[in-house]
Amino acid sequence: MRGLEQIPWLYDAFMAVAERTGLGRWRAWLAGGAAGRVLDLGCGTGRNLPYYRRGTATGADPSAQNLARARRRAAVPLVRARAEALPFKDGSFDTVVCGLVLCSVEDPAAALAELRRVLAPEGSLRLLEHVRSRHPWEARLQDRLQPLWTRVAGGCRPNRETEEAVEAAGFRILPEGRRARGVMRRFSARRG
Ligand SMILES: C[S@@+](CC[C@H](N)C(=O)[O-])C[C@H]1O[C@@H](n2cnc3c(N)ncnc32)[C@H](O)[C@@H]1O
Repeated sequence: MRGLEQIPWLYDAFMAVAERTGLGRWRAWLAGGAAGRVLDLGCGTGRNLPYYRRGTATGADPSAQNLARARRRAAVPLVRARAEALPFKDGSFDTVVCGLVLCSVEDPAAALAELRRVLAPEGSLRLLEHVRSRHPWEARLQDRLQPLWTRVAGGCRPNRETEEAVEAAGFRILPEGRRARGVMRRFSARRG
């Protein structure tokens, strides 16, 4: 499905505005806190890549257009792959970073199982996501808007219970560093 997320110049223009109005600090936390061997899953146009130390990161995304843009942003290995079927050995990474990705994967449970597999036993998962609203009226609105939103955005679902999905996949969300503002969340998690 092609939408905003798969039109690199449009996504970058939209994101540049969002980052100037607050999201930039959350992105700096997300990617700046990554340590060891890093997988940036759903790296998109590569907005996280400049934060990683040279030689430590690999990016993965199913969109060839996004990977082409990411390649111009940073010299890191980039792999065309979906979260649900990652071409990496068990325990290959110390940190997996997902920035606004679990809203877009087809099968979040399968994706999280793969993330768990490729993370080292003491590894860390770092996420920045938007989630289903805690306000019933707003959640109902998200449900109503979801089909159109998903088409326009190119796969994104606004109404996912991502923190619950992360815990259901066997991760423990760490209270330190977790932030919630409206429907936005940032947090890290380790194997439970
Ligand atoms: C909203 S963009 C986020 C890009 C980037 N992580 C960022 O923070 O700007 C979502 C990205 O997820 C990717 N994506 C969609 N489905 C995916 C899947 N099944 N596995 C991995 N990435 C996926 C899209 O191609 C897109 O690049």
